Amino acid sequence: MNLFDLNARVAVVTGGNAGIGLGIAKGLAAAGAAVVIAGRRPERNLEAARAVAAFKVSTAALEVDVSNEASCRAMVENTVGRFGRLDILVNNAGTTVRKQPETYTLAEWNKVIDTNLNGAFLCAHAAYPHMKNGGGGKIINIGSMMSIFGASYAAAYAASKGGIVQMTKALACAWAKDNIQVNAILPGWIDTPLTQSALREVPGLNERVLARTPAGRWGEPKDLAGVAVFLASGASGFVTGAAIPVDGGYSSQV
Ligand SMILES: NC(=O)c1ccc[n+]([C@@H]2O[C@H](COP(=O)([O-])OP(=O)(O)OC[C@H]3O[C@@H](n4cnc5c(N)ncnc54)[C@H](OP(=O)(O)O)[C@@H]3O)[C@@H](O)[C@H]2O)c1
Repeated sequence: MNLFDLNARVAVVTGGNAGIGLGIAKGLAAAGAAVVIAGRRPERNLEAARAVAAFKVSTAALEVDVSNEASCRAMVENTVGRFGRLDILVNNAGTTVRKQPETYTLAEWNKVIDTNLNGAFLCAHAAYPHMKNGGGGKIINIGSMMSIFGASYAAAYAASKGGIVQMTKALACAWAKDNIQVNAILPGWIDTPLTQSALREVPGLNERVLARTPAGRWGEPKDLAGVAVFLASGASGFVTGAAIPVDGGYSSQV
């Protein structure tokens, strides 16, 4: 028996068309799962779905805006309509607005919370009945080092990612009875389009990340694949409510 086998499983990865989401989508596909790539940009979704199909699994590209409730529900219903089930939900879609808190508008604050926290809840809420009816499921929420630490330029982002960890614990407690495991991954500093913009906007960031990360390098999207496969598979059947750093030691170092 292969504890990490995902054959016959169906996964949705929000924000699966870029960065960490695409790294996770490829990992799930390599383990045998059918993967739905869901994001706002249809052409990027298609391109990512094609890359994932190279692992000889079924794929689909779905347009979704996770900050919109109807869109989240449509994504889940579409997935179940096409594949007949939903086993794995990766709540990865995320965004940030980098500026000092006193300069935030409410619209900027809401955009970050709506995408990173409310979106994850709405997708989980929509997925729950299908997972329950299917006999169980796996929900993987993507947190951040900002689930643990703060930064002057990231009030809304840190609030959303702190919320992700606490929501993960609450959903884990609520849905354990349905054999649904809910866990979070807390990535360290990973080289993606999101952090490419951070490098442009935050002076000295590259030097600080390299000095603070014991592994001495930035992470790559593929560094998240292993833990995602673990949390999506039977290997993690008794793991729920956990928040696992994948950070090259960043959060272990003073
Ligand atoms: N990179 C890091 O160092 C790092 C560290 C910790 C945590 N994270 C977290 O990891 C996740 C992925 O980050 P990343 O670095 O890979 O970022 P990224 O390269 O900017 O990718 C973000 C993804 O989210 C999607 N997205 C954004 N807003 C969306 C919305 N409203 N609805 C649906 N999809 C949406 C984007 O696709 P569309 O634009 O097509 O919608 C894109 O696929 C985020 O939750 C982020 O907070 C990243």
